[in-house]
Amino acid sequence: MKINQRWKAIAFFVIVMVCFGMCWFLRVEYYIQRSYPNVHEMCIPGDVASKAEILISNYSRDHPVFLQLSDYFWVKNQSKYRLPYGTYGSEELLIKFLALTNRYHVPEDIKRLRCRRCVVVGNGHQLKNSSLGETINKYDVVIRINNAPVHKYEKDVGSKTTMRLFYPESADFDPQLDNNPDTLLVLVPFKPLDIQWMKIILNNEKRVRKGFWKMPPIIWEVEPENIRILNPYYMSVTATQILKSKKMIPKMIPKPTTGLLAITFALHFCDMVHIAGFGYPALTNKKQPIHYYEKVTLKSMFASEHNITVEAQAIKNLFQQNIIHNLTYF
Ligand SMILES: *[C@@H]1O[C@H](CO)[C@@H](O)[C@H](O)[C@H]1NC(C)=O
Ligand SMILES: *[C@@H]1O[C@H](CO)[C@@H](O)[C@H](O)[C@H]1NC(C)=O
Ligand SMILES: *[C@@H]1O[C@H](CO)[C@@H](O)[C@H](O)[C@H]1NC(C)=O
Ligand SMILES: *[C@@H]1O[C@H](CO)[C@@H](O)[C@H](O)[C@H]1NC(C)=O
Ligand SMILES: *[C@@H]1O[C@H](CO)[C@@H](O)[C@H](O)[C@H]1NC(C)=O
Repeated sequence: MKINQRWKAIAFFVIVMVCFGMCWFLRVEYYIQRSYPNVHEMCIPGDVASKAEILISNYSRDHPVFLQLSDYFWVKNQSKYRLPYGTYGSEELLIKFLALTNRYHVPEDIKRLRCRRCVVVGNGHQLKNSSLGETINKYDVVIRINNAPVHKYEKDVGSKTTMRLFYPESADFDPQLDNNPDTLLVLVPFKPLDIQWMKIILNNEKRVRKGFWKMPPIIWEVEPENIRILNPYYMSVTATQILKSKKMIPKMIPKPTTGLLAITFALHFCDMVHIAGFGYPALTNKKQPIHYYEKVTLKSMFASEHNITVEAQAIKNLFQQNIIHNLTYF
């Protein structure tokens, strides 16, 4: 009798332990699933930084991400270069502009993250029919470029936009449609007029039409608190370190595309950097559209100041060093 009861007790105990173990396992599994949608690609804090350090000399995350008033108001921040590589000569304008928006912080929910998983979404035609939208939405930080639409392309490119890098000539004419209410609209200033343009719109001053290579929006419905100016530091790093231009002579450097700039920025901001929608068709392929949302071909790139051959090589180099990954490949 007694022995029988003891066995019953042991069996009961074992069953309880097994159940408990299974619950624990499932809970952990659930937690991992929730934290890392791509379980095979776990986020390692400091991973990108430790690799980028080797590639980029004087690599530093200490530079303010966005320009801030205190750097110009109390002490004149001594920058060696003019826009787009520095702020030399634009200080007065910056004081006026930054006093207007008075925002330069990174959103709290991103700042709090132990590990930042980022995806830089390029505008490449290969995104068409890619069905990557759902995956893109899972990243902590989704960076988009210029006027790339989201509306009606959600299935392929997703709908989440944490930051959008743009300049006046590349601004989306309907910013409400293709961004979220809290999307940071990050101005990449190529020339002082670009900052002026934003200031005029926010202040509703008399519009300026001259000096742009393409007419930017003159009415632009945005919240001033969502506007930031990207530190030109990233542009100078892109030119001198990523594109390896020997000299800091603006006329001689091929201007980096906003896409490559966004990748450089991510290397200084994120712990994991994936890219999607990067890569142009072969140079001989003159009919192939280059963007997922419009019909322009490579011809338009030849007319620009960009050098896409050098950029493609730079991105390949980042792949080879395992610093970034192509979202469509792993
Ligand atoms: C790195 O920093 C050193 C010391 O400040 C400076 O002399 C050097 O020019 C910098 N290198 C680059 C590539 O900026
Ligand atoms: C001065 O401004 C540049 C951007 O133009 C930035 O990279 C640098 O960190 C700033 N220096 C200080 C001391 O804030
Ligand atoms: C995308 O899918 C549509 C409908 O299935 C098709 O008509 C179109 O050719 C595809 N486009 C590309 C670029 O594959
Ligand atoms: C990333 O992968 C896609 C799909 O295979 C490819 O079309 C694209 O060219 C790749 N991007 C780069 C920059 O290699
Ligand atoms: C791009 O740069 C490479 C290497 O510096 C050069 O050989 C090539 O001619 C450039 N292409 C264009 C279109 O400027």
